[in-house]
Amino acid sequence: MPLKGQDASNRNEMPDTKTIQTFQHRLLRWYTEYGRDLPWRQTRDPYHILVSEMMLHQTQVNRVIPKYKEWLVAYPTFEALASAPLERLKELWRPLGYNFRPERLQKIARFVVNELDGKLPKTIEELVVLPGIGRYTAGAILSFAFDQDVPIVDTNIRRLIQRVFGVDGDPHRVSGNKKIWHLAETLIPQGKAFSFNQALLDFGALICTARDPKCPKCVFRDRCIEKKHQRKSRIG
Ligand code: ADE
Repeated sequence: MPLKGQDASNRNEMPDTKTIQTFQHRLLRWYTEYGRDLPWRQTRDPYHILVSEMMLHQTQVNRVIPKYKEWLVAYPTFEALASAPLERLKELWRPLGYNFRPERLQKIARFVVNELDGKLPKTIEELVVLPGIGRYTAGAILSFAFDQDVPIVDTNIRRLIQRVFGVDGDPHRVSGNKKIWHLAETLIPQGKAFSFNQALLDFGALICTARDPKCPKCVFRDRCIEKKHQRKSRIG
């Protein structure tokens, strides 16, 4: 079934149900075939998900995989992390860069252990007050660990949504950004946020990339507003 065509007149409208369902169906079908088998997709443990997301922020997946495994052997729980020497944490984290992150992660661990009975909260409002947790990471924890239908939007997902749905407005300003988050929420198929959000991440990272998008392999190419990428890749 074709996705409804994109033109200037329907950019500000929310997509209709059929368009949403087609998007969901195509993305999930693509993910079943091409989605990556990554270690943090084999767990629903909120602590493990948090560690993976902190490591993955601005760091490539293949650099994170060995460190994620090493970290969880050394510090398998919030309790273990809370009582670890900070220098050891920084040492282990060093190849990933962003050396302030292990300290933040330990602060979260101590707060969770001391104030929250060892458990991460299950609401956005409670999660975003923890150090280093913004709306994206909160959404990742809620959808990946707690199966809640909560959206995530990172740079790759923002670009994918903009190309497919042509959301008007500067995504870096409040109003444009709000529209994209709203759309990301509307697009989630009920009860399937885990796979759907993981699929968005993979599609944005592998196909709908910033500089060299794989347009011939894109399941949304009939709808993309950046047609120049399609022309370029067909010719070149
Ligand atoms: N980047 C951030 N979170 C990710 C995830 N869960 N899988 C792949 N890449 C990611």
